[in-house]
Amino acid sequence: MRRPLIIGNWKMNKTASEAGAFIHDLRERLPASPNADVVLAPPFTALESARKALGPSSWISLGAQNVHWEQHGAFTGEVSAPMLRELGCRYVIVGHSERRTLFGERDQDIQKKVQAALTYGLSPILCVGESLAEREAGRTESVVTTQLTGSLAGLTTEDLATVTIAYEPVWAIGTGRAATTEQAVAVHRSIRLFVETGWNSETASAIRILYGGSVTPQNIESLLASDPIDGALVGGACLNPESFATIVGIAQTRRA
Ligand code: PGA
Repeated sequence: MRRPLIIGNWKMNKTASEAGAFIHDLRERLPASPNADVVLAPPFTALESARKALGPSSWISLGAQNVHWEQHGAFTGEVSAPMLRELGCRYVIVGHSERRTLFGERDQDIQKKVQAALTYGLSPILCVGESLAEREAGRTESVVTTQLTGSLAGLTTEDLATVTIAYEPVWAIGTGRAATTEQAVAVHRSIRLFVETGWNSETASAIRILYGGSVTPQNIESLLASDPIDGALVGGACLNPESFATIVGIAQTRRA
């Protein structure tokens, strides 16, 4: 049985001190031992204070929002996987639509980032999703398949065991217009089929596939009620400790 996973993607929000205060507040609201995995993805500059606020034995994991594929070198402004590992990160988001559209990331770049994450023991959270124009043109499945094909090229079944896929329709991100459960489920099914075809059915039934895009305390329950949806990548609603804790609480009541 796949364990639910909730990721809070803070994007470019919260200073180091704000991160510490947020986590102290959040911890008060969450139980001591959960039935769901929870990952916080603060900006790079807040990772250290987030780690301190979580403490050494926290069940909440840390993730980064991006990574460079090289280990070190002349890449001004970039951060590598071993740097993130040493800061206590266990996960890293790769290929978020904001990285793709605002910073020009292509599938071949994302594939190198996935590889680098795996090499240095970080679990990649690979984001895929179509734009509104692509959906309206009936191209959702082909767009997502192209992204998956490019980003997961060369991965073994062992690699896939630590990868999470987040389906995030671009038109749903930050718009308050979440996909319906039916829309999300249809794409989740096609992603799982893609993994089954490219690897095997065991890998496909084990991989966690999340939904992201305007997830709120109000809609999380119906999203998670669907078997193919294993959790959520939460943006706006993760910045408030009360709403994020509510989302995690609902995920915890789901099958573990
Ligand atoms: P949102 O962002 O929840 O604010 O729509 C989700 C994301 O971009 O990961």
